[in-house]
Order: sequence, then structure tokens, then C-alpha cells
Amino acid sequence: MSTDVPATLPSGGAVRPITRWGEEVMHRPARPVTTFDAQLRTLAADMVATMYAAEGVGLAACQIGVDLAVFVFDCPDESGEPHQGVVCNPVLELPEGKGRKLDDGEEGCLSYPGAFVSCARPDWARVTGLGLDGSPVSYEGDGLLARCLQHETDHTTGMVFGDRLSDRLRKKLRKQMEANADDYPPSWPAT
Ligand code: NI
Repeated sequence: MSTDVPATLPSGGAVRPITRWGEEVMHRPARPVTTFDAQLRTLAADMVATMYAAEGVGLAACQIGVDLAVFVFDCPDESGEPHQGVVCNPVLELPEGKGRKLDDGEEGCLSYPGAFVSCARPDWARVTGLGLDGSPVSYEGDGLLARCLQHETDHTTGMVFGDRLSDRLRKKLRKQMEANADDYPPSWPAT
């Protein structure tokens, strides 16, 4: 991959195989990050490299098999403006009451690749947490960014978006994933 990593994200990481739904690490709450050291930075750089190699807009640590509550993202908002960041120990805020509107756009997950179905989520979200140096960070927005911030925070709690779907949509998702499985060998996107 020749993707240029934006200055806002750690670069120089290694592309690692993506962990799939069904692996235990994907389905339990991750441990909070308590040490903000070079090892954490290396982990985040690997996550960034893996996200770009897989052409995703976000990736949580459990998706490369690591039990820590951290995710990375590079995702456009409704206006198309890209936003990037690293969030440790994310806490999600969503609109309530009259301010709450749902967006039923399509959603997919790199840990269940090749499949997309509609998934209703609030159309705006804010995530607060800590950056790689342990200082507070906050990201918010609409469009795909709102969906991404919610999806990745879910991963740190052990939830995958299939858990939010009806049986019918979950079955539709599984059929797509199975139909495209040949495109995603177990080592994907590492080579
Ligand atoms: Ni995902």
C-alpha cells in the first residue's frame, strides 16, 4: 500500500490480518487503556495501516485481536470533509428527545467483510476519550462520521453491528458475506 497517512494519525505501522466476528475478543468489553507509551503508539500505527489497507473508515483494536478500548478513524462527515483521530476509552454521546433523528444508511464491518445492510442509528454523535498521549480528545459530526463513531465505540464494548439488526437483516448480511468470502482470505488485508 502506498497510502499517505495524514499527519493527524500515527504512521509506519504494519498491516495485520483482521479478526472476524465469532472470535472471542470481538464479543466482550475491551480493557481500558491505562498506559500511554510507545507500545500503544505502535498498536495505533498498525491499526491505521490495517484500516487503510482494508479501505475502511475506522478500526478498533479488537479487530486486530488486541483487547484494548481504542479505535482509529479517517471518515468523511455529511459535507464530505474528512476527520481523523485516535480515541482511547471512548465515551459516546447521542442526541436525545426532539433532537434525535435516525439515519438508516447502509453499514458494513471490516470484521464481516463484503456485506452491507441498512442499520438505523442517530444521525449525529460525539465521542470523547483520550489521545495517544493521554490528553482529552473529542470528535463529533454527522453523516458517515456519526455512524463510524458509534460503530467503533460499539466495538470497544464487545458489540458488533449485527447485534443491532433484526434476524431478517442479519441473515441478509450473512448471505452477502458468504457470497464474497473468496475475496477475503483469513490473512486479509495482510499479505
Ligand atoms: Ni466494525
